Amino acid sequence: MTQMDGKVALVTGAASGIGQASALALARAGAAVCVSDINGAGAEETAQSILDAGGKAISLTCDVTKSEDVSAMVAATVDAFGPLDAAVNNAGIAGSFTDRLHEADDAMLEQVLAVNLRGVWNCMKAELSQMLAAGGGSIVNIASVAGLIGAPKAAAYTASKHAVVGLTKSAAVDYAKLGLRVNAICPAYTDTAMVQSAIAGNPLMAHIMERAIPMGRLGQPAEIAEAVLWLCSDASSFVTGHALTLDGGLVAL
Ligand SMILES: NC(=O)c1ccc[n+]([C@@H]2O[C@H](COP(=O)([O-])OP(=O)(O)OC[C@H]3O[C@@H](n4cnc5c(N)ncnc54)[C@H](O)[C@@H]3O)[C@@H](O)[C@H]2O)c1
Repeated sequence: MTQMDGKVALVTGAASGIGQASALALARAGAAVCVSDINGAGAEETAQSILDAGGKAISLTCDVTKSEDVSAMVAATVDAFGPLDAAVNNAGIAGSFTDRLHEADDAMLEQVLAVNLRGVWNCMKAELSQMLAAGGGSIVNIASVAGLIGAPKAAAYTASKHAVVGLTKSAAVDYAKLGLRVNAICPAYTDTAMVQSAIAGNPLMAHIMERAIPMGRLGQPAEIAEAVLWLCSDASSFVTGHALTLDGGLVAL
């Protein structure tokens, strides 16, 4: 019996990076997984890898900024596999990493908040009402160390991720007696497309990121996925409202 046998999970932004690694880890642990992303073809590839390995998955296109897409995602998951046990709200964007606040574009702020804050809000609303009806569940929101400390030259991103930690704590308290757990994960720089695109725009960036982390290296998506899996599973049954750092020691500095 593995950790998630018989459980049903969904992951947003699961076409790549941390979301993809989380979907694969949940499926390996026995969960049936709804793999969703705004990039439907990428979601399909992740789902196909799960099916090829003998797991259970469906894929769909879902833009988390659209509440109708999110409701359809939760409904499709329940239709395919039954009541939702775990949800990983991972979809997120970085915005611009180069502008200081007074130079930053207002439209960029709107876009970052739409995906990182409103997207998580939309997902939590749909997931919490489904889980309440089913009598329990575990939600994991992917925040960031930028949800706990100020990330340089990323004010919009930092504000959005502090908001995700806030949503997580507030919902954890409100639903604690109702069988629902809500936690956040706060990774430091992790080797995904998001970080690679920041490095591509500024070759010194890789060095700066590695120097910022006491372990001297980037995180790997699979390392983050292990913590996602633990928080989704009953192994973390007394944990709620927690913002778990996976950061090679960055926040301890
Ligand atoms: N990589 C890091 O260093 C790092 C560190 C801390 C937190 N995070 C967070 O981890 C999460 C995943 O990021 P990643 O690093 O794996 O990046 P990534 O770019 O590899 O993956 C993000 C995924 O989200 C999807 N997405 C973007 N907008 C969407 C939308 N509106 N609706 C649905 N899907 C959408 C993208 O298509 C992509 O597949 C994000 O929330 C990010 O903020 C990343």
